[in-house]
Amino acid sequence: MNILVVDDDDLALEMLRHTLVRAGYQVETAANGREALAILRQGRARLVISDWEMPEMSGLELCRSIREGSFDGYIYVILLTSHSEPDEIVAGMSAGADDFIGKPFHAAELLVRIRAGARVLALETREMVIFALARLAESRDPETGHHLERVQSYSRVLAQRLAVMPEMSAEIDPELIRLIFLTSPLHDIGKVGIPDAVLRKPGRLNAAEFEIMKTHTTLGAETLDAALVRFPEARFLHVARNIAAAHHERWDGSGYPLGLAGEQIPLCARVVALADVYDALTTRRCYKEAYSHLVARSIIETDSGKHFDPRVVAAFLAAEEEFLAIQRRFSDRHEAPSFPPSGWSSSAGIQTHAVVTAG
Ligand SMILES: [Fe+2]
Ligand SMILES: [Fe+2]
Repeated sequence: MNILVVDDDDLALEMLRHTLVRAGYQVETAANGREALAILRQGRARLVISDWEMPEMSGLELCRSIREGSFDGYIYVILLTSHSEPDEIVAGMSAGADDFIGKPFHAAELLVRIRAGARVLALETREMVIFALARLAESRDPETGHHLERVQSYSRVLAQRLAVMPEMSAEIDPELIRLIFLTSPLHDIGKVGIPDAVLRKPGRLNAAEFEIMKTHTTLGAETLDAALVRFPEARFLHVARNIAAAHHERWDGSGYPLGLAGEQIPLCARVVALADVYDALTTRRCYKEAYSHLVARSIIETDSGKHFDPRVVAAFLAAEEEFLAIQRRFSDRHEAPSFPPSGWSSSAGIQTHAVVTAG
């Protein structure tokens, strides 16, 4: 990892550089804020250790310029300071500093604070990589728009509602809610392995094509299993894997790929299943118009205990306003919720539903 050290004092700069190089870091140096910004614009570092007091541009001003600028990803800033009064700390944080180190610095403290910063940067990188992978899978899929963002937000709302249900609270904690939000965009990652003739076919799939489409669940799970072999402790990979594998399973055991039923289906997948179907129902697809919220709700209610976990349906019914707000926030053009389709009845809805969930 590259670290940018900014100090107008040559001796202090050299001491910092020496400490960091000995700890195995690559170090860039700048004698003032302007030089520092030039280095950051070139993407040569994402963690900055800057002196607070410098002529021309102080550490505080450098922080502000970093937060106002647009860089490739987050820049983590540690200010070196002899200012440790609370109001000075507040000023530093308000300017956008992430952390402080007192002067003169202790090498061991400096290094643990750098590691804390590196963890923050790694989290952000992880989230960007996850979304980039999801986008890649989606880029081949014609039915997109803001599907990923909506499914992600619907899933979070459902998980939050479940977490406050007394019978569910043991199964779902804030970390799981966060991980469902983080990894739900990967639910269809296996679609990268589906041939174009099936994935991009305009209109309904025939039985043979549908069998091929179904394999996006196992393909996605296999991809994430391969990552799990290398990072078995990564809880987000487990959640992502379970969502990809089981988001088309149904509560009554009639889903795919394994025909799991009830609580055999991981909770995260039961949540994403409803979010994904709700979005498919309320947006236009090549084989159907967008249904209104009321039609979608009625279909989902009818399928409580069949397709969906009844408690996830209860969470949905408790969160209708939030669903509508998410729909408005991430609406795709031309997708104003419309009509009950002509001849629509509950069973017709489920027929559509079965095809809708093919993806
Ligand atoms: Fe989806
Ligand atoms: Fe899917």
